[in-house]
Amino acid sequence: MAFFMCALGSVPSLAAPDAVAGKAKAQLCAACHGENGVSALLGFPHLAAQPQLSIFYQLLQFRDQRRKGGGMEGIAATLSEQDMRDLAAHYASLPPPPPVAGGDAAKIARGQQIAQQQYCSSCHGAQLQGQKHVPRLAGQSSEYFVQQLRHLRSGARADMDGTMASAARSLTDEEIEAMAVYTRSLP
Ligand code: HEC
Ligand code: HEC
Repeated sequence: MAFFMCALGSVPSLAAPDAVAGKAKAQLCAACHGENGVSALLGFPHLAAQPQLSIFYQLLQFRDQRRKGGGMEGIAATLSEQDMRDLAAHYASLPPPPPVAGGDAAKIARGQQIAQQQYCSSCHGAQLQGQKHVPRLAGQSSEYFVQQLRHLRSGARADMDGTMASAARSLTDEEIEAMAVYTRSLP
């Protein structure tokens, strides 16, 4: 315990997150996540307007190899925690991805109904805008949404505290696809 306290005491104090510094550091990320945090690549996640803590925690999970995918483990390994905080502050400050309107109205309605029945908003926020460490779903790429939810359901993506895995466990592919069409339509 004494050793633990000592070790904690020796952690260098971090400067406050700096969105301006984060913007410069985000040059590394733009090819895949877009200049404004809205990716032009199919199935790549939008980062714009994601909660700061969520981005930071996901980067830590990639760095520690607890989450893998898209080469992000290698990229996160090159970042300091200060870099991660600055990047998170930058992306969190950007305007959200534009909602994808249109599509199958019946599917959107079905997706909304399932999301309500499953209480997705109890963690992801009333408008599914994300909060604290919980990611934003509104406006997210539907291909990315489907892939991640399948991985969370199967355990291929381990989540930090298991709450999301249990939320995903009982969902069918059809339900996941309907919710993806619904969430991408949200502003
Ligand atoms: C070569 C392309 C590429 C580059 C460069 C890249 N990323 Fe990623 N990133 C991805 C892909 C693909 C994923 C989805 C990974 C998966 O399938 O789980 C991802 C996922 C993420 C996530 C998780 C998003 C979520 O909603 O959970 C964060 C946060 C992230 N990247 C931040 C960054 C930051 C910050 C940088 C720059 C330092 C960066 N990425 C550079 C391709 C890239
Ligand atoms: C008990 C809280 C909770 C509930 C309820 C919940 N989630 Fe989550 N969700 C989370 C957390 C926390 C994460 C981040 C997981 C991680 O990587 O550790 C997450 C991650 C996700 C992701 C991945 C997003 C990304 O950017 O990578 C999707 C998609 C998702 N949730 C969809 C849903 C849907 C759809 C529902 C309703 C069926 C739902 N969640 C219900 C807490 C919850």
